[in-house]
Amino acid sequence: MIKKTLLTAFVALGMSFGTTAVLAAGGETHIEDYDFSFEGPFGKFDENQLQRGLKVYTEVCAACHGLRQVAFRTLADEGGPNLPEDQMKAYAAEIEVFDKELDDTRSAKPSDKFPGSALENAPDLSLMAKARAGFHGPHGLGINQIVFGMGGPEHIASILTGYTGKEKEEAGATLYENTAFPGGWIAMGPPLEDEQVEFDDGHANDMVSMAEDVSAFLMWTAEPKMMARKKLGVLSVLFLSFFSVLLYLTNKRIWAPVKRKD
Ligand code: HEC
Repeated sequence: MIKKTLLTAFVALGMSFGTTAVLAAGGETHIEDYDFSFEGPFGKFDENQLQRGLKVYTEVCAACHGLRQVAFRTLADEGGPNLPEDQMKAYAAEIEVFDKELDDTRSAKPSDKFPGSALENAPDLSLMAKARAGFHGPHGLGINQIVFGMGGPEHIASILTGYTGKEKEEAGATLYENTAFPGGWIAMGPPLEDEQVEFDDGHANDMVSMAEDVSAFLMWTAEPKMMARKKLGVLSVLFLSFFSVLLYLTNKRIWAPVKRKD
């Protein structure tokens, strides 16, 4: 009797996993697991990569997408792109922002934020790397997210490199087939091609490298304090381990007289 109930429970469980698997597989998306420098508990943003990513964003993505949560001065932050102060100021000065008080545009100050999206249906990218999860499952359990991370930057890099070259017209708009975008068709044309952006340090500028660089940069815009958070995390674990040893020794000592009586 008990055996039978157990069996039914297992079958029911299996069936519900089965259905979630089918639902999750609806998009049939492929997300590449890139090796980013900031992964893992000791991972760090690579300052040079963030600077290259900023360049890709500025020269390519900014034509359509905004970063309206990001202030220019943070480009000089340590643990971020760490631009020298004068470079950060020069960067801001080249960008026009709208000033409500002036009721006109003027060149940006370090305290200003990046403009919003220039193209109406292009989403703001400030928080995109945190808003999307590249990895799911298996079976809705989210174990992949523990193993591979949430996959926000992977989602972005996989979209940038996931075009098959097929296009179609739908309701007057062109859609591009993309293996990483849920649904398989995206309204953004392939934004990157090999050697589109030149880097001062001569770093590789093939499409995949640039996609990784700009995705790393967008991870930083979405979580600028990641380095501080990880440092605190590692310190807390160290402290807790040390504290456990102390507690263990204290406990032994307190109970020693009682135990000795036996
Ligand atoms: C010509 C305009 C244009 C350019 C340039 C452009 N995008 Fe887009 N992008 C769009 C539009 C439009 C969408 C909305 C697509 C949709 O929802 O189907 C979009 C969507 C996205 C998305 C959202 C995917 C999602 O999960 O919703 C990401 C990420 C993205 N773009 C990143 C970039 C990056 C990074 C660059 C620069 C390398 C870039 N885009 C350049 C127009 C552009």
